[in-house]
Amino acid sequence: MPSIRGHLLGALLLLSPLSSAAPTRKAPKYATLVNRQWSNATYDFIIAGGGIAGLTLADRLTEDPNVSVLVIEAGPFDWGQEGILVPGIFQPWWFFWPNLVSTPEPGLNNRQVGAITGQVVGGGSAINAMVYVRGDTEDYDAWGALQEDSTLSWNDMLPYFLKSETFTEPDAQFAQDANITWNPLVRGSFGPVQYTYPQHSYPGGEVWYNAANAVGLPHIEDPLAGHKAGVFPMPSVLDAATGTRSYAKVNHYDRVSAARPNYHILPSNMVSKVIFREDCKTVRGVEYVPTAGGNATVALASREVILAAGGFNTPKVLQLSGIGPKPLLDKFGIKVISNLPGVGQNLQDQPTLTVPLTFTNNLEPNSNSLNTDPAYAAEQYALYQSDKKGAFTVISSLGTNIAGVSLKQATPDFLDIVAAARAANPADSLPADVDPTVLAGYEAQREIIISQFENENVSVGNLHWGTSDNALVYHLRPLSRGSVNIVSTDPLVNPEINFRTATDPIDQAVYTALFRKNRELFATPEMQALGPAEASPFAEAQTDAEIDALLRDNINPTNAHQCCTAAMMPKSLGGVVDAKQQVYGVSGLRVADISFWPFQTGGSPLGTIYAAAERLADIIKAEYGISSL
Ligand SMILES: Cc1cc2nc3c(=O)[nH]c(=O)nc-3n(C[C@H](O)[C@H](O)[C@H](O)COP(=O)(O)OP(=O)(O)OC[C@H]3O[C@@H](n4cnc5c(N)ncnc54)[C@H](O)[C@@H]3O)c2cc1C
Ligand SMILES: *[C@@H]1O[C@H](CO)[C@@H](O)[C@H](O)[C@H]1NC(C)=O
Ligand SMILES: *[C@@H]1O[C@H](CO)[C@@H](O)[C@H](O)[C@H]1NC(C)=O
Ligand SMILES: *[C@@H]1O[C@H](CO)[C@@H](O)[C@H](O)[C@H]1NC(C)=O
Ligand SMILES: *[C@@H]1O[C@H](CO)[C@@H](O)[C@H](O)[C@H]1NC(C)=O
Ligand SMILES: *[C@@H]1O[C@H](CO)[C@@H](O)[C@H](O)[C@H]1NC(C)=O
Repeated sequence: MPSIRGHLLGALLLLSPLSSAAPTRKAPKYATLVNRQWSNATYDFIIAGGGIAGLTLADRLTEDPNVSVLVIEAGPFDWGQEGILVPGIFQPWWFFWPNLVSTPEPGLNNRQVGAITGQVVGGGSAINAMVYVRGDTEDYDAWGALQEDSTLSWNDMLPYFLKSETFTEPDAQFAQDANITWNPLVRGSFGPVQYTYPQHSYPGGEVWYNAANAVGLPHIEDPLAGHKAGVFPMPSVLDAATGTRSYAKVNHYDRVSAARPNYHILPSNMVSKVIFREDCKTVRGVEYVPTAGGNATVALASREVILAAGGFNTPKVLQLSGIGPKPLLDKFGIKVISNLPGVGQNLQDQPTLTVPLTFTNNLEPNSNSLNTDPAYAAEQYALYQSDKKGAFTVISSLGTNIAGVSLKQATPDFLDIVAAARAANPADSLPADVDPTVLAGYEAQREIIISQFENENVSVGNLHWGTSDNALVYHLRPLSRGSVNIVSTDPLVNPEINFRTATDPIDQAVYTALFRKNRELFATPEMQALGPAEASPFAEAQTDAEIDALLRDNINPTNAHQCCTAAMMPKSLGGVVDAKQQVYGVSGLRVADISFWPFQTGGSPLGTIYAAAERLADIIKAEYGISSL
């Protein structure tokens, strides 16, 4: 891997000439990887977090050779291991953020669950399941409508989706056989993120596809066109040329780093807080510490600091910097720079349910065959090496089809759920001591989401069958809201994460409908031919009350899609950033990562994060007259 050798060389070059200390220093030239000896270095922009949003922005801002950018990333560089690069091997735990656990979850019988997020250059994109599905048109339109002044909409986002990506068409015969269809007008051709479809399908996938059709989930022509209430093969951020993962380290750093002496990454260090000038308002830079522990150092930003640390850590850095709910900051003796009650609130994920299955007559090969059949695995690995095809192009344990389900498709009683949601008091869904502005923002979101429940084209859930021993039921649009709050002023201590999954009773009603829809799909003659049965205790749960209890025992609150903890909304609605993603009450500070979303979309997050960062890069470039390539 030439890129890795490049990193080592950069690091070695830096060790020699740097002993003299000066009050402010220019960034070192001709090195893309910096180390801590460059304390007090001055950059135009400092980005906290080298994940999807952070590296996309760093790439775009450094297109202007006169603009210097430092990305400080808590995790290390990966070393090109197959568990990251090869989908069929998929070992994400290499770079899970350590010791991240939720509080006992009040809606889930006080279960504590692992909270998952990446800690590595590339962030979640280095370890995610590579599924690329955009949100619904209604999501982006509603995000824009929530703002006081914004052009944000699906039509505004689409050019940025296209700019961010390059779609490689699958082999035509394979596409036809696998029911892969797309609309070229919504597929990008020149952008850094590579995507295509795995060149593989299991026989069970076809059975499931037809069963989905049979229960009213039609074929979706293009899941990236803004609606996907129906069944479709999943696009994957797979580089068709190499057969490997296309992730932010590769597509927004390796791709350009050799030509960008102005683009620096400092890995294995955590931004502990943003620091301000004497006016306690204008950003001066950041303080950071080694992730492994050690003394704090300062880096200075002449223009802006951009937070891109992800849905858990961006609110943590804000709170440690004195930007957050005053009562929380007071509790830890942190000087209040900007009292923003919304920081760390509004936490949402997309909960998942794994339904364990047995089969009397399942088809082979299936998604478990790579584990159980060494001869098959060897043959598939050889095919992968020679042709970039076969089972190793699919993320381990997943299948290749998924279904989006609108509430109407899930249950004929959907209008009863809508009516119950409208009749409920939104305040009952949030903690009793909620700030009134945060409650007002929640009320606004809730109205939008309930209207999405009524819309036959908008998915509220996903169903998936990997083709072996479980089915997955995803809840995409929860009404429950959680929180992320610091528990210490020590930057190395994780915040308290309370998902509060299933605390809103409407979420249980929606999830029950999705769970029953999954059962309906497995009850079709197509699936019954395989002899499926839910394993205990799932099979025994039949009444709504029994299913409610089963869900509370088994829902996983997270699909690692944690978002919305520094939401873009007016301040009067508990917002943290304005329509240009600038943090209220200070100057020179923005939020670029998934934290800025007001609420979850009907898609998987990665595409929206790349595109939103492209859009933000253009906003920032226009403001400072920064040129593009
Ligand atoms: C296992 C897994 C599977 C997933 N599967 C999918 C999928 O199939 N499809 C999909 O669309 N999405 C998926 N996701 C979600 C998706 O990857 C994330 O939503 C996305 O990466 C978030 O992007 P981001 O830029 O907001 O933050 P991230 O990509 O999470 O980047 C944040 C970065 O900031 C760093 N950081 C945190 N705190 C600090 C600090 N104080 N200082 C410096 N650096 C810091 C972190 O180490 C991290 O690298 C998955 C995620 C995971 C973890
Ligand atoms: C960095 O700046 C601080 C004052 O802001 C100073 O005390 C310190 O010595 C400087 N460090 C280096 C390495 O220049
Ligand atoms: C580059 O930046 C310097 C100061 O940092 C400025 O004087 C010069 O005009 C800039 N050049 C361009 C092309 O923007
Ligand atoms: C593709 O769709 C057709 C008709 O909708 C169906 O008969 C066929 O089985 C499907 N094939 C796969 C691989 O899903
Ligand atoms: C941290 O700073 C203290 C006090 O300045 C110093 O004694 C110590 O050696 C430093 N530790 C490291 C790891 O640099
Ligand atoms: C759903 O989509 C269909 C087909 O595009 C359209 O006719 C219908 O009006 C849409 N329904 C809603 C509620 O937008």
